[in-house]
Amino acid sequence: MAQNWTPNSWRQKPIQQVPDFPDLAALNATEAQLATYPPLVFAGEARRLKSALANVSEGRGFLLQGGDCAESFAEHGADTIRDFFRAFLQMAVVLTFGAQQPVVKVGRIAGQFAKPRSSNIERQGDVELPSYRGDIINGIEFNEKARIPDPERQIMAYRQSAATLNLLRAFAMGGYANLENVHQWMLGFVKDSPQAERYRKLADRISETMDFMKAIGITSENHPSLRETDFFTSHEALLLGYEQALTRVDSTSGDWYATSGHMIWIGDRTRQPDHAHIEYCRGIKNPLGLKCGPSLTGDGLIELIDLLNPQNEAGRLTLICRFGHDKVAEHLPRLIRAVEKEGRKVVWSCDPMHGNTITLNNYKTRPFERVLSEVESFFQIHRAEGTHPGGIHVEMTGNDVTECTGGARALSGADLADRYHTHCDPRLNADQALELAFLLAERMKGGRDEKRMVVNG
Ligand code: TRP
Ligand code: MN
Repeated sequence: MAQNWTPNSWRQKPIQQVPDFPDLAALNATEAQLATYPPLVFAGEARRLKSALANVSEGRGFLLQGGDCAESFAEHGADTIRDFFRAFLQMAVVLTFGAQQPVVKVGRIAGQFAKPRSSNIERQGDVELPSYRGDIINGIEFNEKARIPDPERQIMAYRQSAATLNLLRAFAMGGYANLENVHQWMLGFVKDSPQAERYRKLADRISETMDFMKAIGITSENHPSLRETDFFTSHEALLLGYEQALTRVDSTSGDWYATSGHMIWIGDRTRQPDHAHIEYCRGIKNPLGLKCGPSLTGDGLIELIDLLNPQNEAGRLTLICRFGHDKVAEHLPRLIRAVEKEGRKVVWSCDPMHGNTITLNNYKTRPFERVLSEVESFFQIHRAEGTHPGGIHVEMTGNDVTECTGGARALSGADLADRYHTHCDPRLNADQALELAFLLAERMKGGRDEKRMVVNG
């Protein structure tokens, strides 16, 4: 492996999942233009996220990471962002209060535009066209013109990310996330669901606690942590030309940072150790995610950790495991043992979405009970191995969609047609996301009580 890293050293390596841009001069011009634009996030923020994740890797805290499978240009509205943020805050507060652990909040948002595809070609009837690769590359409409990769879309993705981030910062810091508003985060369509009653009870207890604290002089005016929250952004670093253009030197440390988002991850399809995506990611200082699927061996994982985190820095690397409900018991223990044997510091996170996708009535869907089952196994396995189940990575939305079957409202295959809006993979709706959060809180709490029993007894 070449030791000298530069923001463009990945260009010397083999690469997977690259779009066929017909006009390379236009692509170069776009990348040059992006390189002059302001960073979207700052190095100091990425460092803060890294230190929060370092705590998680040491067993203190939990990573909540979630958002769209793919953001879209068409659905870039304030209401969509607000409703996502509400659903996300509800999950965060359920986890924080229920499990009594700090929750590190990371959205799959403000940059999650590029999609890896299993095939370069999509066929409909007799027509074959290049696959849709995300709005940052081409259009989802099934016609020849839309499917041509267009560099100009990178400028649009950058601007949409900036606007989204601006609103999220306002929500996180400007009062919307104030714990005094805990009752107001409930979305209209969730109000009559079985989760609503449970959430209301929890919110009542938080309000009561807040009232008590107010009586003794602790208020959201004199304690900003009651009214503000740290919210970070993340996406898959797939389109490396875009990432390179936003890679900047941090003036205080002299280190390189990806400034397209706080945390970026490497997909299961692009993690070849001698290829471009690993080369790019090893040189930037942001916290990184690595998707781990069934084909990853223990030795392969250690080789990747050597490349991505040679100093064994806590908080640098999150392993996002996505095996499937029926495969997690086979694959997760061997990876945990390989990491433990070598003493590597990682955050273990569970992606219960990507290994549980099936086709039903011509829709790509995910049975909610399989999602829950993978999460349950993830917790059980970590308890058995004595390691910390540190996080969850989900595809979710604040919209009332019908994309995953099951859940308390028992969505069936026939319901999928009602409101199936995703641009790529099926997402949990706010109802299902909340149900998942309650289950997580219970499991996290269970682990803590167990530890306490061992200490006391
Ligand atoms: N600042 C704390 C935190 O982020 C408490 C907090 C404020 C909070 N608003 C929140 C927690 C909304 C969850 C959701 O953890
Ligand atoms: Mn997806």
